[in-house]
Amino acid sequence: PQFSIEEQTELLPYDKAWEFPRCRLTLGVQLGSGCFGRVVKGEAIGIKGSRETVRTVAVKMVRSQTNVAAMESLVSELKILIHLGSHLNVVNLLGACTKKITKGELLIIVEYCRFGNLQTYLMKHRNNFINLLDEFGNMKPDSEMEDPHAPILSDISSFDRNSIADNENPGPFYSTTDTEAPEWWNYGHQQERDPAQNKSISTRDLISWSFQIARGMEYLASKKVLHGDLAARNVLLADDGVVKVADFGMAKKMYYEGNYERAEGLMPVKWMAIESLTARIFSSQSDVWSFGVLLWELFTLGEVPYPGMDVGHLLIKEIKSGYRMEKPENAPNFFGVIMANCWKTEPNERPTFRQLEEMINSHMESSV
Ligand code: ADE
Repeated sequence: PQFSIEEQTELLPYDKAWEFPRCRLTLGVQLGSGCFGRVVKGEAIGIKGSRETVRTVAVKMVRSQTNVAAMESLVSELKILIHLGSHLNVVNLLGACTKKITKGELLIIVEYCRFGNLQTYLMKHRNNFINLLDEFGNMKPDSEMEDPHAPILSDISSFDRNSIADNENPGPFYSTTDTEAPEWWNYGHQQERDPAQNKSISTRDLISWSFQIARGMEYLASKKVLHGDLAARNVLLADDGVVKVADFGMAKKMYYEGNYERAEGLMPVKWMAIESLTARIFSSQSDVWSFGVLLWELFTLGEVPYPGMDVGHLLIKEIKSGYRMEKPENAPNFFGVIMANCWKTEPNERPTFRQLEEMINSHMESSV
């Protein structure tokens, strides 16, 4: 496809420090695909590390190189990733191959997350769930806990938010400031409990993940980036129980203060805020609504929201008339309150991601 000069000048100039030689990247099996793009596993030689180190990466590309809309959406994702900088709880950019971009060969190289997306992971391991709640929906006192690998919560709360967030974009080569989890960033999830046994998920893991997602989203919101499609399918699980917000295909930089309006298209209706459905208004506060739905997914271990309800006028009508989902059985009472707050009709009455992060953090501290 031919891009106009305007499109090219708008799209192409980018920090050359991110360019990664195509010859040092090999592509492997497909990891996922959407309507526009697909993601494959890959190996990159000397990407952030010594010259000869081979690193497993994920590579995003368009499905059809002649689809201009798909190309534009991928380019805008690259721009957003560059703009974002890196954070532990976001799938970070590692590099890009842009040399043949006019032929549609744009490759975006991001961190590979070994355990895939949360939705699939939750479903797969839901039969190994360790419930740490008492019959009233409160966390059991520590002494009664069955989870042998409870995270060290003082480590999480004493964590300095600036130490990882917001480092300078170092480009893809030989960086010493990586965004890997520091050693003490130990949520106690991924150490093998018993290699022979299937992986289990505990209430604590779910709370830790919700905390980390709030952190990643707080970082996005602080950069004035809205996600637009926050859902368990777009959160990836890496090593050491670290989760990362992914897939900025729908993400938009907010160039104006406040809200962003988006054209019609395929919409994740069950995750969308009421004002997005009725007035097509998107903001970080509509991402907060989606976060509430994501919490519901977490604590149902990967069920589809609004079970039994079709997407369509009825669902929208019900939500407009005040219908909301109930607190999942496995969610602590506290999270029932958080969900209800995320689903307030008035966007400004919902908590911000900063507040969510703090609320979940203090809840974790008080339940130790
Ligand atoms: N599927 C989509 N993106 C991925 C990533 N970065 N790592 C692992 N699986 C993925």
